[in-house]
Amino acid sequence: MTEQKATNITWHEHVISQDELEKLHGHKGCTIWCTGLSGSGKSTIANAVAARLYEMKASTFVLDGDNIRHGLNKNLGFSPEDRVENIRRIGEVAKLFTSAGVVNLTAFISPYAADRKIARDLQPQSFVEVYCYADLSVCETRDPKGLYKKARAGELKNFTGIDAPYEAPENAELVVDTGKLSVPECVDEIIKVLRKRGVIG
Ligand code: ADX
Repeated sequence: MTEQKATNITWHEHVISQDELEKLHGHKGCTIWCTGLSGSGKSTIANAVAARLYEMKASTFVLDGDNIRHGLNKNLGFSPEDRVENIRRIGEVAKLFTSAGVVNLTAFISPYAADRKIARDLQPQSFVEVYCYADLSVCETRDPKGLYKKARAGELKNFTGIDAPYEAPENAELVVDTGKLSVPECVDEIIKVLRKRGVIG
């Protein structure tokens, strides 16, 4: 648990409720939490879902690990503690987007099950965990950023799947096998879950 440092702070209720914002958007707020190895397709799928939802006039936002690490989380690296803090912050940010009635999609490796649970427990009713599954060999063949090659050569330490752990989800709402399914097929699966849960009509 992260320590509460600030004292003398008061919670202010929002004048415009989540319910009202959701009516404005015409759908519910929700977090689609994509987890998986680097190169498993998280960002691609999150963005493709956002594009599909945009066509449906839904309000979306993608929180992407590589992008967030350029700004909000630029002071974090890839040590276990920094990854914990990375995911803690994004769990909170995702919850804020949900409160704003936005369908938010996260694309972080989020390798630790305990951290994903913390993010889920912040908004259990509106959290959809999507395991973007691809075999390590598939991710390594794709190697879009050349990082597996560097990790194998010992030039990059603590790389997930090589010399840092990835704890696969056991109870994700959805597993999409990105080695077998096309991107549109993965999107279809996620849209189905969103309809089933009443996030979109
Ligand atoms: S997480 O483990 O803390 O969830 P996050 O999703 O934010 O990771 O960032 C992962 C991205 O950072 C990878 O897709 C890759 O581009 C880059 N990266 C750089 N170094 C590492 C590393 N040691 N392990 C994993 N990803 C790394």
